[in-house]
Amino acid sequence: MSSTLFRTKKVEQSILDTEEPEHALKKSLSALDLTVFGVGVIIGTGIFVLTGTVAKNNAGPAVALAFAAAGVACALAALCYAEFASTVPVAGSAYTFSYASLGELPAWIIGWDLVLEFALGTAVVAVGWSGYIQSLMDNAGWQMPAALGSREGSDVFGFDILAAALVLVLTVILVLGMKLSARITSLVVAIKVTVVLVVIIAGAFLIKAENYDPFIPKEKPVEAGSSLDSPLIQLMFGWAPSNFGVMGIFTAASVVFFAFIGFDVVATAAEETRNPQRDMPRGILGSLLICTTLYVLVSIVVTGMQHYSRLSVDAPLADAFKATGHPWYAGFISFGAAVGLTTVCMILLLGQTRVFFAMSRDGLLPRFFSRVHPRFKTPHRPTILLGVIIAILAGFTPLTELAALVNIGTLFAFVVVAIGVIILRRTRPDLPRSFRTPWVPVIPILSVCASLWLMINLPAETWVRFGIWMAAGFLVYFLYGRGHSRLARGEATEQQPTTGGGGTTTL
Ligand code: ALA
Repeated sequence: MSSTLFRTKKVEQSILDTEEPEHALKKSLSALDLTVFGVGVIIGTGIFVLTGTVAKNNAGPAVALAFAAAGVACALAALCYAEFASTVPVAGSAYTFSYASLGELPAWIIGWDLVLEFALGTAVVAVGWSGYIQSLMDNAGWQMPAALGSREGSDVFGFDILAAALVLVLTVILVLGMKLSARITSLVVAIKVTVVLVVIIAGAFLIKAENYDPFIPKEKPVEAGSSLDSPLIQLMFGWAPSNFGVMGIFTAASVVFFAFIGFDVVATAAEETRNPQRDMPRGILGSLLICTTLYVLVSIVVTGMQHYSRLSVDAPLADAFKATGHPWYAGFISFGAAVGLTTVCMILLLGQTRVFFAMSRDGLLPRFFSRVHPRFKTPHRPTILLGVIIAILAGFTPLTELAALVNIGTLFAFVVVAIGVIILRRTRPDLPRSFRTPWVPVIPILSVCASLWLMINLPAETWVRFGIWMAAGFLVYFLYGRGHSRLARGEATEQQPTTGGGGTTTL
């Protein structure tokens, strides 16, 4: 039994599968497209919304250190992702990588886990987007009825209609094809980066040194609440639950980690990249570097403009400008944030459908989902199915707790990828790797430790929810995937290359 659970899909086979005409995606992306793609998905709700919350509740001005800490954990993971992505350039990200290295069950676990990351991530960002649109509408004197507005902190039963509508519109764009969405993405990313630069440059002139005092606020005990709200590490060691101080920086890091999610999505587009061996590592590492720098600068500026205890939790960047008497900047930032969150949402949705697509192509989910559209060459079936589910989810769900669940899922994927790098170096040392993670196994081991560290700084209840989702995944695998897997049926190993098939059938 254990040999079937850990059966691996040959790397050559993974690449070969992408060339079957009916299951081939279009190869159209360059390194620049990938970087734009990365920046497009990385900068989002994390910096625009969560910065205020964690500065106010967990870290004070030291939120900049939290961003740096989360950035280091991501850089370590990125070095592992880059090697995998350049060795196994097919759709599916960590799922595909682990199928090639760790075996079918771990691959299933990671695929199931990534579906959680991307689906909930899309919903979280759509809800954040809806909040910014509503704040712009407020400026113009229009108000959404409470039952159709944001669910965050609302007691009225209702449905966030803007969040759901955004997801549905993006679903249609993705069904129509990569090229269209990549073009829209580039334009929106330009607007978003401009807004972030405006915050940094205009805000720098409004900094007051006294706002940085204290830079790391003293540890403060939290009032008794449910113990499951506390970070797991505090429960593990029986510490009194507290905020701020040095540990507060790590709690903040485990939350603002959400701001970095997305560079792994770049890896899911490997199959659609013209020259993945060269361009994937450039795209992943490039976008991560740009975003980390911007985040640290934005958080230093914003906590310098306004005392951390007075930062707003809904629109901290815009409100810091309002508080310093610059409402025009605030309106511009809200507009840019709303526009920018659109691409984040779209790329998360894209990543999610691609993982689902890859799992279905391998037979672990019904093969019905991996037939590409005859005209648009996109995996339209999972895109539509998941788009509708996420729209409903986004309509009904408040965002804060979901963000933690997204983080734990992503960090778990990082752990698996890092272990996969070490294993694949031993089992397949012969494979050509255009990018090699330096200092293996030191970097992958550090990556595992950093990810686990952030995971145990997340609330215990997040661990419980994650456990439930993964248990459901085991059930689906043993009831469906295990028996239907193409590898189990011997189909995958009999496949012959369809020379030029992928290229000729793409758009
Ligand atoms: N990194 C993305 C964001 O912050 C998911 O919205």
